[in-house]
Amino acid sequence: MTRTIFTVVGARPQFIKAAAVSRVIAGRPDLNELIIHTGQHYDANMSDIFFDELGIPAPKRHLGIGGGSHGAMTGKMLEALEAAMIEDKPDAVLVYGDTNSTLAGALAAAKLHIPVIHVEAGLRSFNRRMPEEINRVMADHLSALLLCPTQTGVDNLKAEGITRGVHAVGDVMHDATLYAIEQSRAKSDVIEKLDLEGRDYAVCTLHRAENTDDPHRFARIIAFLEEQARERLVVFPVHPRTRKVMAERGISPKGVKRVDPMGYFDLHRLLIDCSLVLTDSGGLQKEAYFHRKPCITLRNETEWVETIDAGWNRLWTEVNWKVPRSEISDYGHGFAANSIIETIISHTQKA
Ligand code: UD1
Repeated sequence: MTRTIFTVVGARPQFIKAAAVSRVIAGRPDLNELIIHTGQHYDANMSDIFFDELGIPAPKRHLGIGGGSHGAMTGKMLEALEAAMIEDKPDAVLVYGDTNSTLAGALAAAKLHIPVIHVEAGLRSFNRRMPEEINRVMADHLSALLLCPTQTGVDNLKAEGITRGVHAVGDVMHDATLYAIEQSRAKSDVIEKLDLEGRDYAVCTLHRAENTDDPHRFARIIAFLEEQARERLVVFPVHPRTRKVMAERGISPKGVKRVDPMGYFDLHRLLIDCSLVLTDSGGLQKEAYFHRKPCITLRNETEWVETIDAGWNRLWTEVNWKVPRSEISDYGHGFAANSIIETIISHTQKA
């Protein structure tokens, strides 16, 4: 029997995770995947480039819902996804991470009694002021199958009373990173393009609403970046949200090389030769570890506590690195996508 899985994606990190899982699904004759793109990220360098580079199958539907307030965006997605699910009658709905697209996909499916599978379940920052925290808590409580990247995720769910359908499967971002490392040396010319050959540089990304929307906090982070830039060049691919805020507030940090958002292979090529990562992204904190590069997280807390405990990551509010550094076994060995698919198959057989 062939089962149809309806994959909801919308934002950059979801394209990357879905690519790793889609590659495994493509090799399974018993599974049929329909990809639905909500349109949350719509710029070519935030969306199309990932589909092209990572060979993600073309979305069956593109809902074109990007921008607007959280309520408006999530509401429009909910309505459109519900209609699509009623038409396509999937056997399960697969959602990733913690974006508004994740919440809309999970809620639409749960109300239609379609099992929700949440990849990256159980992560918590314990900061309810983050839209992502609300999205991930809600998605977890709506899911039938909760696929955690780490044991910390399993423990967090247990503390909220969720134990059924919970599995630690490893981190699919590790799969994605290994693939990018393998491809990026041959496929990326970013080092030449940005004239970085032989230079000491850090890679920076910054886009979280909690940082960009508070002008005082944002100014403090920019001052911190300028301080870092006195020691080495800071290469900063600027997210559209952050670009808008910087233009509006006339901010132009010294020693920081601002560039457009880049594809996955270019970003990983930069990570291979950098000496430091500065970021408020969830994914990049771990990608830094996968490259064994130190990371300073531009937030007051992180969901990826293992990277802090092992000494590879520290919050920007902390002064010293924890030494010595150790290896992290929780994230798996780059086969999380296989574990995800095996778990889905055995779960749906039992159902
Ligand atoms: C979203 C996710 C976040 C994830 C991030 C990855 C939520 C609540 N947040 O944040 O968890 O880490 O994606 O990047 O879902 N914009 C463009 N072009 C684009 C995309 C966005 O101009 O291609 C603009 C939007 O119109 C909006 C702003 O950038 O004004 C922010 O986009 P939004 O989708 O709200 O969330 P992100 O900050 O990207």
